[in-house]
Amino acid sequence: MHVKVVFISLLILGSTRVAVSQTKMQAFVDGLMSKMTLDEKLGQLNLPGAGDITTGQAGNSDIAGKIKAGKVGGLFNIKSVAKIRDVQRIAVEQSRLKIPLLFGMDVIHGYETAFPIPLALSCSWDMKAIERSARIAATEASADGICWTFSPMVDIARDPRWGRIAEGGGEDPYLGGQIARAMVKGYQGDLSNNTQIMACVKHYAMYGAAEAGRDYNTTDMSRVRMFNEYLPPYKAAVDAGVGSVMASFNEVDGIPATANKFLLTDVLRKRWGFGGFVVTDYTGINEMVEHGMGDLQQVSALALKAGVDMDMVGEGFLTTLKQSLQAGKVTMAQIDMACRKILEAKYKLGLFANPYKYCDEKRAASEIFTDANRKAAREIAADCFVLLKNQGDVLPLKKQGTIALIGPMADNRENMPGTWSVAVDFSKSVSLMEGIKEVAGSGVNVVYARGSNLDEDSVFEERAGMFGKSLRRDRRPAREIIDEALQTAARADVIVAALGESAEMTGESSSRSNIEIPGAQQALLQALLKTGKPVVLVLFTGRPLAIKWENDQVPAILNVWFGGSEAGHAIADVLFGEVNPSGKLSTTWPQNVGQVPLYYNHKNTGRPLADGAWFQKFRSNYLDVSNDPVYPFGFGLSYTHFRYSPVTLSSKSLKGDQTLTAQVTLTNDGARDGKEVVQLYIRDRVASITRPVKELKGFQKVFLKAGESRTVSFTITPEDLKFYNSELKYDWEPGDFDIMIGGNSRDTQTARVSWMK
Ligand code: BGC
Repeated sequence: MHVKVVFISLLILGSTRVAVSQTKMQAFVDGLMSKMTLDEKLGQLNLPGAGDITTGQAGNSDIAGKIKAGKVGGLFNIKSVAKIRDVQRIAVEQSRLKIPLLFGMDVIHGYETAFPIPLALSCSWDMKAIERSARIAATEASADGICWTFSPMVDIARDPRWGRIAEGGGEDPYLGGQIARAMVKGYQGDLSNNTQIMACVKHYAMYGAAEAGRDYNTTDMSRVRMFNEYLPPYKAAVDAGVGSVMASFNEVDGIPATANKFLLTDVLRKRWGFGGFVVTDYTGINEMVEHGMGDLQQVSALALKAGVDMDMVGEGFLTTLKQSLQAGKVTMAQIDMACRKILEAKYKLGLFANPYKYCDEKRAASEIFTDANRKAAREIAADCFVLLKNQGDVLPLKKQGTIALIGPMADNRENMPGTWSVAVDFSKSVSLMEGIKEVAGSGVNVVYARGSNLDEDSVFEERAGMFGKSLRRDRRPAREIIDEALQTAARADVIVAALGESAEMTGESSSRSNIEIPGAQQALLQALLKTGKPVVLVLFTGRPLAIKWENDQVPAILNVWFGGSEAGHAIADVLFGEVNPSGKLSTTWPQNVGQVPLYYNHKNTGRPLADGAWFQKFRSNYLDVSNDPVYPFGFGLSYTHFRYSPVTLSSKSLKGDQTLTAQVTLTNDGARDGKEVVQLYIRDRVASITRPVKELKGFQKVFLKAGESRTVSFTITPEDLKFYNSELKYDWEPGDFDIMIGGNSRDTQTARVSWMK
């Protein structure tokens, strides 16, 4: 008997599986492509921005003409289900082959309900929470017509000058990989229903290693560093089944990523087995003309040949690939492959079965910015804040007396959500003032003064984007603004100083060469400290700041990043102790910008400083500053205190594929319940290439009641010892390993193990 079996192949490895039948998909795409003209194929590779599309007028826009002619594969950053339905209708009713469009958007940390910026989310070290934030973002975006998000951004960044450090998960490849996986899972699920959307991991690759922290700048590094330190989070996203990848603006090895065959084909497709599609970043192809790679026709051909499938905004593919094909510079097979990838993505999303799958007005009315989503945003935000200092237990604040809330960030809704809040209605965010008043209740008298402008330099202020928002410049002399704040502070028992960066001082095209709190605000802080009243610095930032002076002088510092729609509530929850802070830094915080790049997983060098030394001649250090950060990677305090026992190992010597268990007993010996992120680091003592002084290999976020103790165990296998050697072979080498466990990357307990093959 002949049985016809249709295999439902689970297209992707790892945790996110897309349940479509490969066979059916191939047959469908083959059939469709057999009907397509060359122009229609090129149209699928074209991704313009939304342009002037407005409800009811979509049919008359320039874009509409292109859609009807089959010259558009997708559009991005259109907001609202009504507009998207209108545009989709043009594609499926008025174009010859009725191919539905993809609708993308930068849904980076939430849709209308904004979650904390990604750098903040990474400090929760809570993968369930991060996945949940992505899930909610996908639910809201999909309810409004979006089926594709340009997220997660997983660029490793060790340079706080770079404004886009705000958009990623920090400096560590292991943590970055965990986050990549959680976000892809949260967005995509198995793509089987209309609340799940396709993710796009970006910016592939090494965009975060821009020289001097200047955005879009050159990246150059050894392959060993690339593979061990920068590529793992992108790979984790691919392993988790991410549907698309965005090529980055920067060059790598002298070739812009957008035309880099090594990255896009050799590594991504061949080594990692990526089966989705590659999109450029915004005009990434056109920018290769400025890079000096040729004219638009040449660079478009280079991009296609390297492995790009879709051209964002620049229309290089649309306008030149035909000529390149005629001239024999690209092949039909290359164009077909790119077109196939886009059609497959549409198929996986279910758009051929139902082009309006994501256009459900009822969902749009009931699933966006809901109370439940805002509650989740509040909870998650509170877990991202990092308590950097709390001398004399100034925090938590008591719900009594008078609190002076001072600073340009205090009474400001617009500044709360943070960079890349494309779909957010800023007027609906909760300011710190509103949050404090609500959480403190009527027993507390809250008095307020602005205290300073964002900065005295109005040109800088303008660039930092504060005009037109509630942070309008106060034109009085700085001294007058400070004096007013001092009078306000005089009436209070405690001062809460809400200072730092504006949201637009980080994010794209927002690099800084000075990473301190802007001068006007420093002057305010100095004046507030002179009052002798207890001061709590609530620090807003999208990057690690150089706050050595503040750490020396201010008794309490709570770093709150940009916390999303519910930031004001969440900050107040932590300030008043409703929530015990548990965030841990995912980046090192330097003493000054001259130490940058400063990261915990550095190499030892041949001349390391002796333990505890500040300076030694002819050793690797500076004359004018120690090698230490102000706060190490993994650092963050709590209102309670956690004690670590020494590390115990299940064995001191292992062989081959054996498994090691490393344990500590963690005790909450403070007076409050709390969560601690227990971190496992490993150092490979001797290897064929130099290895970092420590590398994060595991972590667990543990809740302990006051007084409770718990054994925390990590299982270590040779998999955790692997690295890419100088031949880029991924394997482990026998020898001694230090196993370190602690509450941050600096304060660890160590035990040594010997592991032979
Ligand atoms: C950014 C990307 C973003 C794209 C689309 C670019 O400028 O680099 O991260 O996804 O614009 O908005």
